[in-house]
Amino acid sequence: MLIRTDRDGLQHPIASEITPQGVYQDRRQIMKWMATGVAGAALASWAQREALAQQIQKPGKHAALASTRSTAAGAVTMEKVTEFKDASSYNNYYEFGTDKGDPAQNAHTLKTTPWTVEIEGAVKKPGKFALEDLVKLAPQEERIYRLRCVEGWSMVIPWVGYPLARLIEKVEPTGNARFVEFLSLADPKTMPFVGSRVLDWPYAEGLRMDEAMHPLALLTFGMYGEVLPNQNGAPVRLVVPWKYGFKSAKSIVKIRFLEQMPKTAWNKAAAQEYGFYSNVNPNVDHPRWSQSTERRIGEDGLFAKKRKTLMFNGYEPQVGQLYAGMDLKKNF
Ligand code: MTE
Repeated sequence: MLIRTDRDGLQHPIASEITPQGVYQDRRQIMKWMATGVAGAALASWAQREALAQQIQKPGKHAALASTRSTAAGAVTMEKVTEFKDASSYNNYYEFGTDKGDPAQNAHTLKTTPWTVEIEGAVKKPGKFALEDLVKLAPQEERIYRLRCVEGWSMVIPWVGYPLARLIEKVEPTGNARFVEFLSLADPKTMPFVGSRVLDWPYAEGLRMDEAMHPLALLTFGMYGEVLPNQNGAPVRLVVPWKYGFKSAKSIVKIRFLEQMPKTAWNKAAAQEYGFYSNVNPNVDHPRWSQSTERRIGEDGLFAKKRKTLMFNGYEPQVGQLYAGMDLKKNF
């Protein structure tokens, strides 16, 4: 994956509203207490109410997508939400170019209607879902997740969607389904970089079945209360908050249930750098750079102190159990 540091910093000067360090640390402490259960129920519910009261700017650029705020563990944060303008202009979507600004500039050609998602493989009910039906399959929830990119930056984004598990239950996987593969659209007519040799298209990603069923894995249709902008993966993408951002495939057209671990686009491109699991892990460095810290887009200036990256991106209390007994250095 391309890494760029200095230029990125210059593209994202210090925002005027930076959460004061003290407030941030207090919040971190509260979240830690909540996670470890040290805080009493009263403190936990106070903190959760505070987090839920967080104002989310509605950009008003796209159709509204109604949802209710999720109160699921891990779906609420007291960290400051990244501004929409940053989340929608600093993207990785290689089908539209490799620079961070390319997707916002080029993805207007993506045609998101009509759209279908095909379900294949080891399921009792394979078939095609029209997007309109997929959207209505389960209640839409708003969930504020950290997204940590493998390149060393992060954002805090209010996504709208529902747990992927709702769709999986609906299609009834058979006993042979051990993995789930996600395939993105690869249309050379509307996606200028499909056909380039950057990656082997279509963009492909995968999860182990228990990861895919985890309540935090979100099938995502919107962000900031509106349908997804094209550059963020319209009309439907995945968000897997405890893994590096590249595990969250955009503009999904096919979901396959498999017995064998699927090959993924980044693993095919550089197996020694991008493993199948790719859980956020500050203790396992990328072969070319450290993963112990991160830069928060839109908030941290070029010279600001970086944040420490948290194990499983801070979702260890929720997902740690999925990897009990696994060597995470080997299974990176
Ligand atoms: N999905 C597709 N189809 N193509 C991509 O290039 N990039 C991934 C992921 N999903 C990518 C993709 C990477 S590297 C990241 S960090 C996230 O999308 C970025 O999501 P965002 O632009 O909405 O922040």
